[in-house]
Amino acid sequence: MIRRTILAATLAALALPASAQQTMKIGLILPMTGPSQSTGKQIDAAVKLYIAQHGDTVAGRKIEIILRDDAGVADTTKRLAQELIVRDKVAALAGFGLTPLAMATAPLAAQAKVPMVVMAAATSIITAQNPYIVRTAQVLPQPAAAMAQWAAENGIKSAVTLVTDYGPGLDAETWFTRKLKEGGGEVTASLRVPLASPDFAPFLQRAADAKPQAVFAFVPSGQGAALAKQFAERGLDKSGIRFIATGDVTDDDQLNGMGDVVLGVVNAGPYSAAHPSAVNKAFVSAFTAANPGMRPNFMAVFGYDGMELIYKALTKTEGNTDGTALVEAMKGLSWESPRGPMMIDPETRDVVHNLYIRKVERVDGELYNVEFATIPMMKDPAKAAK
Ligand code: PHB
Repeated sequence: MIRRTILAATLAALALPASAQQTMKIGLILPMTGPSQSTGKQIDAAVKLYIAQHGDTVAGRKIEIILRDDAGVADTTKRLAQELIVRDKVAALAGFGLTPLAMATAPLAAQAKVPMVVMAAATSIITAQNPYIVRTAQVLPQPAAAMAQWAAENGIKSAVTLVTDYGPGLDAETWFTRKLKEGGGEVTASLRVPLASPDFAPFLQRAADAKPQAVFAFVPSGQGAALAKQFAERGLDKSGIRFIATGDVTDDDQLNGMGDVVLGVVNAGPYSAAHPSAVNKAFVSAFTAANPGMRPNFMAVFGYDGMELIYKALTKTEGNTDGTALVEAMKGLSWESPRGPMMIDPETRDVVHNLYIRKVERVDGELYNVEFATIPMMKDPAKAAK
């Protein structure tokens, strides 16, 4: 009798269409190898921590993460996304360590009506590529505008921008330049460094020759230490030129190893491991306990919040994993993140969060971005402008 019941239940489960089965598969595509591997490692660790803390079952669905390494190569991201959608029948895709990787996958996910939770890539236009994209990362116009506003208010009238020559860098250049101008200052030279194997030295020399009051920099997470090293090697730290940046440069993953050259660097970003909230203190201690020797950076928090977004949406749909239903449920969600309060803008599906102005300081023998001013609940200025 019992055996027959089990058999009947097994047959019934086999007959169910994929959507009615009790597992929700999430395809997590990250650069686990290659130049952006710190982004992959940070996000993967945070996703694992989130599931360890919150359980692997939501609204009756077992959550199954399928992790794939794209090594930061867009063609690979696209191929992996295709496989995850067609063969593994994932209900959502997540990750996307760099802008080109998200851009390459967007048309595919739109066609399949599969939500794409963007946990790292930060060019403003990404969310406009397809109505199934929702972002828990940041958008570069946010820290760039915040930094320019601070610079203008603090007497910086002339600056040179130095950015990586692709989507997020160009966003940073545009919005820093525009906001500094609005505040009465001027960008006198706009320098763009290649994304692959950058040599910052000639660009830093040109920045020094222009003799601005400040150099404003953006490089993607993972390249900040190399930039800081070359800045010091060229003696710019002693030239009287102020170095200001987006928080991607003074990234918590590398910051402590950058040395005294970055002490006092003012920068703008949505997350610091030193953010003084109870939620963040609990997050940092759980993360470091689970990953000895590693400090969570902004990418870790963007990934952790991506899971919060999926869990909250699935709870709201009562376990319905239909892509359209999930994205509808994600619009307008808000919660307290380790970064502070955050929300998904229901109009743009993009992140709204605090931007903090921070200064690199030594705290208990380690370097941290210490927050000293807040621009609350900032939308993407590039979208607000439309
Ligand atoms: C991006 O490629 O969009 C990107 C990557 C790393 C960052 C910021 C933006 O720190």
